[in-house]
Amino acid sequence: MTLTPTPADKFSFGLWTIGYTGADPFGGPTRKDLDVVRGVEKLAEAGAWGLTFHDDDLFAFGSTDAERQHQIDRLKQAMADTGIVVPMVTTNLFSAPVFKDGGFTSNDRAVRRFALRKVLRNIDLAAELGATTFVMWGGREGAEYDTAKDVQAALQRYREAVNLLSEYVVDRGYDMRFAIEPKPNEPRGDILLPTLGHALAFIETLERPELVGLNPEVGHEQMAGLNFTAGVAQALDAGKLFHIDLNGQRSIKYDQDLVFGHGDVQNAFSLVDLLENGGPGGGPSYEGPRHFDYKPSRTEDDQGIWDSVAANMRTYLLLKERAAAFRADPEVQEALATAKVAELREPTLDAGEGYEQLLADRSAYEDFDAEAYFHGHGFGFVRLQQLMIEHLMGARG
Ligand code: GCO
Ligand code: MN
Ligand code: MN
Repeated sequence: MTLTPTPADKFSFGLWTIGYTGADPFGGPTRKDLDVVRGVEKLAEAGAWGLTFHDDDLFAFGSTDAERQHQIDRLKQAMADTGIVVPMVTTNLFSAPVFKDGGFTSNDRAVRRFALRKVLRNIDLAAELGATTFVMWGGREGAEYDTAKDVQAALQRYREAVNLLSEYVVDRGYDMRFAIEPKPNEPRGDILLPTLGHALAFIETLERPELVGLNPEVGHEQMAGLNFTAGVAQALDAGKLFHIDLNGQRSIKYDQDLVFGHGDVQNAFSLVDLLENGGPGGGPSYEGPRHFDYKPSRTEDDQGIWDSVAANMRTYLLLKERAAAFRADPEVQEALATAKVAELREPTLDAGEGYEQLLADRSAYEDFDAEAYFHGHGFGFVRLQQLMIEHLMGARG
């Protein structure tokens, strides 16, 4: 297996990730602005496949039509020159001060109408560039104070917005789906649709739920103390893994946006195994972009940006290689069998069996010695996990 990324790996990067200048709430930028054409060229050189962006990453908020068009033309030329594609586009409804109380769910109706117009315009651009996924990360859709936000009304307005945008892409005949990106907090004290589970439930209330899925981000679920791989597995189970934001996070704190694998590496291993192989049970896997939403640390210079770009892709490929070695190891296969991992795929009832038959099955209950059953029948989960660790650390082939 090669560790050199190629476009076939479908690695994509946000323009805001490679373009991050290192500014944080405590200090100004440590790097210069990145020009989009250079960004596209450097990504292509590194073996990446795609670039994603917010409208405001490509042309500053408040640009004239001519300035906007100039940047779009430059991006299109760079795409044609390098083969880099734009699989996903998103709209910035959080940086401009007007969005201080949100876009779709601002208490101010005029702001909500402005936000919808900004997104509609950007959907047209997304379609023009061939993007098939439109991400909605509502970082400012939330509140700090319970007294100040009618959450039920906010959810109604969110729904109204997504329904309108869905109607628009259908009417325009665009080949595009929406992916909601949950995050528990930051920049708002509490963000609406804070986890994958909240977003999944919300999607089912929409007029066109089939058009709307999820864009889970590693760090966001981990900020909420949740198991990212388990959340992504539920998204796959629901047929809602439309896109993914890969990065690294170490525990419950601010959104660290580290390189993929530089946070919880065990969870990164199980995630790659899930995306590539369908996880321990060999269930459905994922075909979409492997998108990195990280930040080159503030300490890095220009070279550090491209080193971290390479690090994201190499870590992913290393984990893919380690997951394949893990699955091919006969001792792992034996441990998986002892752990009965595949047995969970077997329905609990026989074909055609209902509760009548189950009630009639004495071996299931009357003759089942629950007390004695597990004596000498350990699952060996610890041994299996240790085999994973040994593969991860390169101690086994
Ligand atoms: C964040 C988010 C964003 C979104 C981006 C795309 O925590 O800032 O992860 O980076 O992914 O706005 O919608
Ligand atoms: Mn994030
Ligand atoms: Mn993200």
